[in-house]
Amino acid sequence: MKRLLTGLQPSGALHLGNWVGALKPFVELSREYESFLMIVDYHALTTLKEPEALRENILGIAKDYIAAGADPEKSTIFKQSDVPEHTELAWIFQCLVTVPFLQQAHAYKDKVAKGLEANAGLFAYPMLMAADILLYDTDIVPVGQDQRQHIEYAREAAAKFNNTYGELFREPKEHILDSVATVPGTDGQKMSKSYKNTIPLFGTKDEIAKAVMSIITDSKAESPENVYNIHSLFRTRSELSELYKANKGKYQALKGALIEDIEAVVAPMRERRDSISDDDVRRILKEGSERARAIAGSKMNDVRRAIGVTI
Ligand code: ADP
Ligand code: TRP
Repeated sequence: MKRLLTGLQPSGALHLGNWVGALKPFVELSREYESFLMIVDYHALTTLKEPEALRENILGIAKDYIAAGADPEKSTIFKQSDVPEHTELAWIFQCLVTVPFLQQAHAYKDKVAKGLEANAGLFAYPMLMAADILLYDTDIVPVGQDQRQHIEYAREAAAKFNNTYGELFREPKEHILDSVATVPGTDGQKMSKSYKNTIPLFGTKDEIAKAVMSIITDSKAESPENVYNIHSLFRTRSELSELYKANKGKYQALKGALIEDIEAVVAPMRERRDSISDDDVRRILKEGSERARAIAGSKMNDVRRAIGVTI
C-alpha cells in the first residue's frame, strides 16, 4: 500500500484554507493509502513561544483532525515532537544542503518580509519538513499551493542524500487540487493564520458570520468576487451562477447565503469535535507516536549506518 502523509502547524485555530487545502484531501485520500497525519509542533516553535498557547493548540488541532474525519483507527495521528528521529534526520539534511539553496525558499522570504523574526529554525524549516516526509517513505503529500516548493526541497534532500550515501529515500509527490490551490481570505489575499484574514473552521456560527461579513467587496462590481471565490468551495459553478444572478448587487444576501452554506458543512463537524476529550487526544497521540516511532526508528538505523556513525 502506498503512503500518504501531511502535517499542520499548531500555531493557531485552523481555517477554511487549511481544511480545503490539506485536511479534506487527506481524509478523502486516506481510504486508499497507509496514512500519517502529523501535528508539527516543532515547526510551530519557529513562530510561537507561548507554552500555554502551544499546549492548547496541540490539543485543539488533534480534535480538529478527528472532527474533520481523520480516523485514528485507520490513520497514524501523531505529534512530531514525540518522534525525535525527525529533528535528528533534519540535522543530517542540513549538512547536505547549502545556505543559498535555503535562501531561495519563498515561504521563508515571505515570512521575513511580513516581519517575522528570521531565526535559524525558520531558515532550516524545509529540512525538518523533508525529514517529516522522507522518514516514512511517503509517496503523496496533500498540501496547498504555498507548500509546493517545500515538497521540491524534500525531493532535493532525498536526491542529495541518495547521491552521497546510496539510495535510501523515496522522492515524494505533492497532491495539490487545482480548484482549491489557494483559498482566499477575507481580504482577497491567501487565507492564512498569520494574516488575520481567516474564516475559522470550527468557530461558532457567530464567529463565522462575523468573518464572512468582513469579506472585502468592491462596491462598483456587479458580483462580489471575494465572496464568490470562497463560495465556490461549497457549491458548483452552475448553482452559484443562478444565485449570483438572482442577487445581483445584493452583497448582504449573498454573504448570508455563504454563511448558511459554510454552517451546513461545519455544524456536524463542530458537534463531533465537542464530544472529544483532552484524554481521548492524549491516548490517540500516544498510540500514534508509538506506531510512527517504530517506522522512523528503523529508517534512522539505516541512515546512521549509511552515513558512518554506527561503528
Ligand atoms: P497558515 O498559512 O494559515 O499558517 P499552514 O502554513 O499551517 O497555514 O498550512 C497548513 C496546510 O494548509 C498547508 O498544507 C497549506 O498549504 C494549507 N493552506 C494554508 N492556507 C491555505 C489556503 N489559503 N488555501 C489552500 N491551502 C492552504
Ligand atoms: N510546512 C507545512 C505548512 O506550513 C507544515 C508541514 C510540516 C508539513 N511538515 C510537513 C506538511 C510534512 C506536509 C508534510 O503548512
